[in-house]
Amino acid sequence: MVTETGSSISKAAVLLLKGEIVAIPTETVYGLAANALDTDAVAAVFIAKDRPYHNPLIVHLHSTKEIEKYVKEIPSAAFTLLKAFAPGPLTVLLPKKDIIPDIVTAGLPHVAIRIPSHPVAQALLKAVNIPLAAPSANRFSGISPTNVQHVQKHLDGIIPYILDGGICNDGIESTVVGFENDAVVIYRQGAITEEQIKTVLSDVVPIVHKAKSENTVVQSPGMLAHHYSPDAPLLLVSDIHKAVTQYSDKRLGVLSFDTVCEDVPLTNQVILSHKGNVKEAAKNFYASLHYLDELQPDLILCQYLPNIGLGKAINDRLTRAAAKHLPVASTTTA
Ligand code: TXA
Ligand code: MG
Repeated sequence: MVTETGSSISKAAVLLLKGEIVAIPTETVYGLAANALDTDAVAAVFIAKDRPYHNPLIVHLHSTKEIEKYVKEIPSAAFTLLKAFAPGPLTVLLPKKDIIPDIVTAGLPHVAIRIPSHPVAQALLKAVNIPLAAPSANRFSGISPTNVQHVQKHLDGIIPYILDGGICNDGIESTVVGFENDAVVIYRQGAITEEQIKTVLSDVVPIVHKAKSENTVVQSPGMLAHHYSPDAPLLLVSDIHKAVTQYSDKRLGVLSFDTVCEDVPLTNQVILSHKGNVKEAAKNFYASLHYLDELQPDLILCQYLPNIGLGKAINDRLTRAAAKHLPVASTTTA
């Protein structure tokens, strides 16, 4: 199959309405979209990504007003969060109506819903006027795509069309939250930080994390220990300068937050934000991993970011990217 890239919303819309799959831009990462109400189209997404069927997909809508068509109820904490953060990089898990096929939710009773804010995604969702199921547009467990070239790297020849919407501004995936017994449960840290979530909830609403337990592998299977991985081995360190000295016999790639490593060629290192700005770091994050991986180094050394706000979400992804190269016994994936 020849993969075309372009900025025609109507071309993307026609393909989607015919049951084809199309890569689309969002403010977080590119998604691989299909009509969420068409079981065969959704199955094609799993096949193109090589994604296991037990890992459910996010359903994208153009407006919060659409949500009630697809879910049985919206808890009040969900309303509050949607009012504050939608459209935007927030995904809410809500009890699904039968109209959402089981393949979308991997048989789970809840469907993940997100209202993307990217203007191209918005225009497309309005043009098709159907919900679009879309995981990130990378092959399973690979590095997420934040520009068209990244999507091409993973899916060229496999899908008919990539809708170009430029570089994704937020650069890391949406925050996934569920609602249980009046608590807000964070399943995946993402572009909306826990601090932001706290500012809009009343003090009495507890926030629970369910990111790494064995249980979560069933409840939100995307939180596998191995994820977002480059092909090169990746080591996560707190002292990047010390690590560079320690591994000086290797061809290194270096991903640092805000500091330059004198002993490594500049072409082999990426500084996520010279100013130490985590928002800028998030935007550059996946592109930097793609870049360093393409150098085919012996080892990629990555520096932990300050573990607050978006830094926490990036550290979480780095941990999962590194986990691929740990001995199997020390990981929790199913
Ligand atoms: O920013 C994003 O969320 C991007 C863009 C394209 O919207 N999408 C994305 O999709 O990151 P994906 O498939 O790579 O990650 C979706 C995450 C996974 O961790 C998945 O397990 C979880 O959401 N998820 C989806 N549906 C779920 C459900 N019904 N119950 C529990 N977790 C769910
Ligand atoms: Mg993904």
